[in-house]
Amino acid sequence: MNQFEAPFMNNVPARPPSLHNAPPDAPIRQPPRLALRAEGFNAWYGSFQAIHDLTLDIPMQSVTALIGPSGCGKSTFLRWINRMNDMIPSAKASGSLTLDGENLLDRDHDVVALRRRVGMVFQKPNPFPKSIYDNIAFGARLHRTMSHAQLDELVECSLRAAAIWDEVKDRLHQSALGLSGGQQQRLCIARAMAVGPEVLLMDEPCSALDPRSTASIEALIRDLRSQFTIVIVTHNMQQAARVSEQTAFFFEGRLVESGTTDTIFTNPSNKQTEEYVTGRFG
Ligand SMILES: Nc1ncnc2c1ncn2[C@@H]1O[C@H](COP(=O)(O)OP(=O)(O)OP(=O)(O)O)[C@@H](O)[C@H]1O
Ligand SMILES: [Mg+2]
Repeated sequence: MNQFEAPFMNNVPARPPSLHNAPPDAPIRQPPRLALRAEGFNAWYGSFQAIHDLTLDIPMQSVTALIGPSGCGKSTFLRWINRMNDMIPSAKASGSLTLDGENLLDRDHDVVALRRRVGMVFQKPNPFPKSIYDNIAFGARLHRTMSHAQLDELVECSLRAAAIWDEVKDRLHQSALGLSGGQQQRLCIARAMAVGPEVLLMDEPCSALDPRSTASIEALIRDLRSQFTIVIVTHNMQQAARVSEQTAFFFEGRLVESGTTDTIFTNPSNKQTEEYVTGRFG
């Protein structure tokens, strides 16, 4: 068992076994199971259509990168996956967007339960103005009753999983706002993981960070990908190539092409994709 799985497993359905843990006699390559599926998905802000007829499958327990020029609808898509657009009155959507077959667009869908399953990390680290400990414990206290000892364990495991424990273990009760930008972003990843999500959405999580912090977040994403389904938006092509297994290229609200990251970067079928990934436009 992974060091940080223990406290999560008491409270969330057991995750399917990772392919990495498959016994030696298991079939070598199983088709990836689908976590998220958009089918004929459209999104609007008032009369402006930001996403057109999107059909895209996002497999479980792997990293999918969303790339494309500014304004092509990447964040809009992420925000619909955890229903953050509910807060924008002009935002509307049609078509289907499912997580394990459940329609996320259904008005009656339990958004609080959804946000436990789908965590989000933003471009700018946004720790709460609370202690490092309380940043992690906050979500857990909201969703379930835990003893002090269980909370302590959850905080430690989450911070270890986000590769920041050693840097903060002696200052857990100091304000999270005193951390560097890169540390704050890892704290936000720890906070997102502490409620035991299956999916982590990351919207340009490194764009406000220096190269060293970026490298540590990328290493973290690679470590986490056998545990979580990760969808990352990035403008950094090298980053998409380094961390993701699938890539989807968007342009002006439409999906141009998606496939394995290797194919999209080395042998895309579409000329526009090739021009974008090689830096000739966008
Ligand atoms: N709250 C909003 N109200 C109206 N239009 C919006 C809103 N949010 C986004 N849009 C528009 O929807 C389109 C898609 O925006 P979105 O934020 O999804 O793009 P993006 O691909 O994430 O871009 P970037 O790479 O710059 O973050 C853009 O034309 C944007 O101006
Ligand atoms: Mg965006």
